[in-house]
Amino acid sequence: MSRLFYFSAGETGEWRIRSIEAVAGGGLSAACRLEVSSDAPRDGAWSVRGIVSNQRYVTRVEHSRLVPKQEPPGRAQATHGALIPIKKSPEWWALTQDERREILADRSRHIAIGLEYLPAIARRLHHCRDLGEREPFDFLTWFEWAPEHDPAFDELLARLRASEEWRYVEREVEVRLERD
Ligand code: HEM
Repeated sequence: MSRLFYFSAGETGEWRIRSIEAVAGGGLSAACRLEVSSDAPRDGAWSVRGIVSNQRYVTRVEHSRLVPKQEPPGRAQATHGALIPIKKSPEWWALTQDERREILADRSRHIAIGLEYLPAIARRLHHCRDLGEREPFDFLTWFEWAPEHDPAFDELLARLRASEEWRYVEREVEVRLERD
């Protein structure tokens, strides 16, 4: 199975776009539907791509907490979703791996906070940075949940965005989705 995913906005796709909000930096243009595919799109409003990769920061202990709680995308009841492309600043990328880990996990508690929302929210992280020089984002984050967990997802976003890690986010777009 390909680890490369294209998220393409246009007239077709399984997901209906409910809203597109520029949280930081430039947004993305309005469109009706979003297609998630491993094949490059032929046309459409816009398209972003990212690759599922190995983990960078997770410790063995965190890994052993995450694995039994996390659910894969594609559950029948998970009809609400979000694509949140994120670009971090040059200051973030100038840090060393251990400094980034300290900010993300120890000081911002990203992994500990995220764990509280499993298994309700399914997630998949895609990396863009190593695909080329002209990628508009560093990460494409993908989430799916059942409609009754809408408040939980909003709360999760608010908690992460209030963290020290998010001071390094220079572009973030929130694309809210729904599937029939
Ligand atoms: C659903 C609960 C969540 C869990 C359990 C979770 C967990 C994680 C974990 C374990 C990593 C580190 C992966 C690694 O070791 O490389 C990570 C990275 C990341 N997560 Fe989350 N996360 C959650 C929600 C979110 C949300 C809501 C966002 C965006 C608004 C987000 C954005 C990111 C980004 C951008 C990275 C990459 C950070 C970097 O490498 O600099 N996460 N997440």
